[in-house]
Amino acid sequence: MSKTIIVTGGAGFIGSNFIHTLVAERPDWRIVNLDALTYAGNLENLAAVETHPGYTFVHGDIRRAEDVARAFDAAGQVDYLVHFAAESHVDRSIESGLPFVTSNVVGTQVLLDVSRERGLGKFVHVSTDEVYGSLGETGYFTEDTPLSPNSPYSASKTASDLLVRAAVHTHGFPACITRCSNNYGPWQFPEKLIPLMIANARADKALPIYGDGLYVRDWLYVVDHCEAILRVAEAGEAGEVYNIGGNNEYPNLTIVKTLLQALGKPESLITFVKDRPGHDRRYAIDASKIRAELGWEPRFTFEQALPLTIRWYESQDEWTQRVMSGAYRDYYDRQYGDRV
Ligand code: NAD
Ligand code: DAU
Repeated sequence: MSKTIIVTGGAGFIGSNFIHTLVAERPDWRIVNLDALTYAGNLENLAAVETHPGYTFVHGDIRRAEDVARAFDAAGQVDYLVHFAAESHVDRSIESGLPFVTSNVVGTQVLLDVSRERGLGKFVHVSTDEVYGSLGETGYFTEDTPLSPNSPYSASKTASDLLVRAAVHTHGFPACITRCSNNYGPWQFPEKLIPLMIANARADKALPIYGDGLYVRDWLYVVDHCEAILRVAEAGEAGEVYNIGGNNEYPNLTIVKTLLQALGKPESLITFVKDRPGHDRRYAIDASKIRAELGWEPRFTFEQALPLTIRWYESQDEWTQRVMSGAYRDYYDRQYGDRV
């Protein structure tokens, strides 16, 4: 049956992939994308869905109740709201934490307030494994691992998780929280490890590795993440937390060497640089709950999806150049003018 969904942050990396997943897998749904178009929001990612009959873009900021209300007005009765909108980059949060508090914490509370007032079927809050802090050499994050964030980014995501939890507990608000490991795939802003390293290697520029390069991340192809989120929206139990991950742990140095080999570039491009302050040593997700309760499994292995990702960036030189030069920001004016 046709449903209506609001997606916040739909012009970002995972949000735009999620909208592509929706258009492919739920073509009769009505989709309202609410996005402020910060530096990370790029409507070019969604050029192929602009003519989709059920798709509407609302230019607005989740920190402003009137902007969120405009998204609800555009949607009518809302079945699902999936909340991606956030400041997402750890290094930027180390430089300046305040935008992370206003968008991730205040923005989430504004969204919760308007959603409660207007009413909806299910609210999915997209969070991160970083709220659990850092692991030693062994073990996995489960949904019961104590919250122990270490960066201003992860602290702001933890605060937003707790506000969602409080809305469930206090108001019986129908929300689920998802916590995912590192994503990779198309349309990722080239400030994050994999797209940055691909862009630099292809341009024969130095590849900056923080510290000893032995920090471990657990990589998940973004398409698998999007399918997990759709499963949580449709079948997740309100009040529950679901970890999402693909059992793909690799040290950063292994990722970078694999990329260099695939691109036919020399390892001499690797440059060790000063470490990220407070750098979490290892993340690894136990995703057995979502597998057992919602039947979600990743479809892609790392060996399949990394080459797909590399090929995608190789075929998108213009996209990469426009993102790196900032030219992608003109697209909004060209495409939308004063229409939104
Ligand atoms: P991104 O930085 O690529 O995109 C964020 C989007 O949110 C952008 O389109 C931006 O314009 C929008 N936005 C930011 N502040 C806003 C505001 N105040 N109002 C409206 N829109 C705003 O982020 P991403 O990597 O796609 O991550 C999406 C979500 O998933 C985030 O909540 C992040 O914490 C979470 N997450 C990301 C990863 C990952 O590996 N990228 C992993 C786990 C969880
Ligand atoms: O774990 C989920 C999180 O993954 C998400 O919540 C965040 O939104 C997302 O940005 C990501 O955070 P990370 O800090 O793990 O991602 P990033 O790509 O910035 O870094 C990955 C690893 O690579 C980390 O150990 C730092 C290292 N790194 C990163 C960059 C950009 C480098 O060594 N050099 C670099 O230039």
